[in-house]
Amino acid sequence: MTEPGRSGQEARVGQEPRADQEPNFNGDILHVEHVSKSYGAVTALIDVNLRLAKGEVLGLIGDNGAGKSTLLKILCGFQPPSSGRIVLEGQEVRFKSVDQARSLGIDAVYQDLALIPQLSVVQNMFLNREKVTWPLLNRRAMRKEAQEHLSEIGVQIPDINAPVSQLSGGQRQAIAVARSVFSNPKILLLDEPLAAMGVKEGSLILDLITQLKARGEVSIIIIAHNYGQVLEVCDRVNLIQDGRITIDKRSDETSADELTEMVVAEYRRALQERQQRAR
Ligand SMILES: Nc1ncnc2c1ncn2[C@@H]1O[C@H](COP(=O)(O)OP(=O)(O)O)[C@@H](O)[C@H]1O
Ligand SMILES: [Mg+2]
Repeated sequence: MTEPGRSGQEARVGQEPRADQEPNFNGDILHVEHVSKSYGAVTALIDVNLRLAKGEVLGLIGDNGAGKSTLLKILCGFQPPSSGRIVLEGQEVRFKSVDQARSLGIDAVYQDLALIPQLSVVQNMFLNREKVTWPLLNRRAMRKEAQEHLSEIGVQIPDINAPVSQLSGGQRQAIAVARSVFSNPKILLLDEPLAAMGVKEGSLILDLITQLKARGEVSIIIIAHNYGQVLEVCDRVNLIQDGRITIDKRSDETSADELTEMVVAEYRRALQERQQRAR
């Protein structure tokens, strides 16, 4: 359901890109340039620069309140940045809505899940992307596809016609991830998809991400707390601290121990800075 005046085309700023005009684009699908975000007096992001290559899985780590979800919500069109640019496939975009970002191939699974508890698993999976055989909803096709997608990723839901409120947190998260993955986005944004999950469900999602990566069709940004899990599935890791990206490392050039050490060192440095300023 696309609202009038919100087509993907309108989000693009200016003319079609020319290769010679974007010398730094180099196979990247997404650039975030000097993005900041304030909520009234709260500054959540300061001069964030980030790049995502085609087919790459980027891990975004950082403490609570660092600004990770804020960045994701800007990239999926939920909210605009206060300043800075988003460049998608070589062209600046300004999203007016989540629908508009989705029409350009960006899909997100939020930390605060966007499932509607009273609706069934099938209804949630096709929310705002219903299959219609004009003029009716094609319920049978949706049921079949939902079942196929869920079993494809190894998630067992006893009854896909049951309301989502009857499911565990992990099952809900799996449904939200499945919904996004099977909408075939170019860029998939996952905000702590493993948080509500047990070990078994978490490994299903990690397997799914590994499979997607092997196919190389989708680029992924995943926010997660467990450095071990992040390094297992990500090509590169960015650390965000107090609204800034402070570390950008390839996964094969770092380790969970090194990331932990860097985080601790960064905190000490930031703490010292604050103490010096307070003097
Ligand atoms: N809608 C909002 N209104 C006001 N402040 C917000 C809002 N969303 C986030 N913040 C603040 O912005 C900062 C970053 O939050 P967030 O991006 O959710 O962090 P993270 O996801 O890394 O835990 C925090 O200080 C948070 O309180
Ligand atoms: Mg968050």
